[in-house]
Amino acid sequence: MTDESDVTGTAGVDWDLAAAAFDEEPDHGLRDPRVREAWAGRLRSWLPARAGDVLDLGCGTGSLSLLAAAQGHRVTGVDRSPAMVALAREKLAGRDAVFLVGDAAAPPTRERRHDVVLVRHVLWTLPDPARVLRHWRGLLRPGGRLVLVEGVWGTVSPVGIPVDRLTSLLAPFAGHLRVERLSDETALWGREVGDERYVVVATPE
Ligand SMILES: C[S@@+](CC[C@H](N)C(=O)[O-])C[C@H]1O[C@@H](n2cnc3c(N)ncnc32)[C@H](O)[C@@H]1O
Repeated sequence: MTDESDVTGTAGVDWDLAAAAFDEEPDHGLRDPRVREAWAGRLRSWLPARAGDVLDLGCGTGSLSLLAAAQGHRVTGVDRSPAMVALAREKLAGRDAVFLVGDAAAPPTRERRHDVVLVRHVLWTLPDPARVLRHWRGLLRPGGRLVLVEGVWGTVSPVGIPVDRLTSLLAPFAGHLRVERLSDETALWGREVGDERYVVVATPE
């Protein structure tokens, strides 16, 4: 694992360097109202109906955090990149949200428990996802859920985590698993995509 001061993870991306232009991708910045609405609708269906505490790990510039906060949830975002955290703080200024610089694999949230651990496009970059998932499960209140938006990107040298692998990593937790395929919903991505994209909503026992 990389040093705390090194924001280049196993994905080989310098996220501090990437932060300023990150929101230019339609599904990152959610600037297009159609894309934003598509994510807002999905997120509403993945999050609990009642307002709760959402921990957004690898929150980036806070685009999903903002949707969750707008739906009434209290948000804690954690990202290893100080530049991403600065942008997230700016984006959610005045909202019920706090952002911390830290490792998603071991978030600096002490003993605090959450109703939701929300993670989009981050788990695949972390070493030892099985261990990380066990840790995240321990951050949940009873009845809490993991909302994991992941995929496999590219065709020549694909990177990511296939849904079958993620569901087998979650199998030891038992409980309830819901999988939704997201590749065909063009509105989420702002364009057609041909690769594997999905969400797993897991409510461990
Ligand atoms: C592809 S971006 C996704 C950002 C955000 N979740 C979203 O969907 O818009 C990956 C993010 O994970 C962060 N990240 C990568 N490894 C991390 C780690 N070990 N701990 C915390 N954040 C990490 C990066 O800094 C970057 O902001």
